Amino acid sequence: MSHNCHSPLLINYRSESSKALSDDIAARLEKDYGVKTLVVKADVSRYEDCEALVKAAVEKFGEHIDVLVNNAGITNNCNWIDITRDAYERVINTNLMSFLHMTHLVLPYMINHSDKEHQCCIVNTSSVGGLTGVINQADYCASKSGIIGLTRALALEFAGRGVRVNAIAPGMIMTDMLRGVNQDELNALAAAIPQGFIGDVSDIAGAMEYLLTAPYVTGQVISPNGGFVLQ
Ligand SMILES: NC(=O)c1ccc[n+]([C@@H]2O[C@H](COP(=O)([O-])OP(=O)(O)OC[C@H]3O[C@@H](n4cnc5c(N)ncnc54)[C@H](OP(=O)(O)O)[C@@H]3O)[C@@H](O)[C@H]2O)c1
Repeated sequence: MSHNCHSPLLINYRSESSKALSDDIAARLEKDYGVKTLVVKADVSRYEDCEALVKAAVEKFGEHIDVLVNNAGITNNCNWIDITRDAYERVINTNLMSFLHMTHLVLPYMINHSDKEHQCCIVNTSSVGGLTGVINQADYCASKSGIIGLTRALALEFAGRGVRVNAIAPGMIMTDMLRGVNQDELNALAAAIPQGFIGDVSDIAGAMEYLLTAPYVTGQVISPNGGFVLQ
């Protein structure tokens, strides 16, 4: 495979707090692994921002892109009567349209050099919400199911051209997305998970590493979820 842990990396952020984190990760990758990095601001729900992101990568690192990880995601927690059009459109644009934009813009820079020996790879972050329903999350579930359809269709379309496309569907993982939830609710969530605890980002990193390095795996959805949803 062409990509390795020393390949140049573009890190996207949107908010200022994410910029600080992105700069920190970039600095550590450069210092500890000698990885060339570029940190770029973009709102990936907007096609023009995605275009600028890909342009920045190509200008800095050249016209071959080996890996794309689509991960941006937001939620509303609202019933389908009270939710506003603006709120659910924001979720669909951020969680699903951004993945359509990015795959559409990046794939030409993958198939210009990929083949069976020189594979490229896309990993899309879905959710257990895309595998099953979640109350008050209709927009989120729609976006995350859509990501699975996108993943499978692109996997088939590009399988013969050396591009693998897979998805990760995390269960409950302790990130900023869960930080607003109080301890009682967290305990209730953990109790509903057969393994009895909320996952860690390292659980997702393990699945990501596997998908990036598994040359015969495409069109799959891996769900680190503690047994919460069985496929
Ligand atoms: N944590 C869980 O339990 C869980 C479970 C299932 C699936 N997931 C999925 O995992 C992915 C990562 O979520 P997380 O748990 O790490 O939550 P998080 O800490 O809230 O991270 C979400 C990330 O998405 C970025 N983002 C949101 N809108 C964006 C936009 N328009 N353009 C660019 N970046 C944008 C945010 O950047 P800014 O901070 O700059 O806005 C943030 O870095 C999401 O797709 C989420 O749906 C999470």
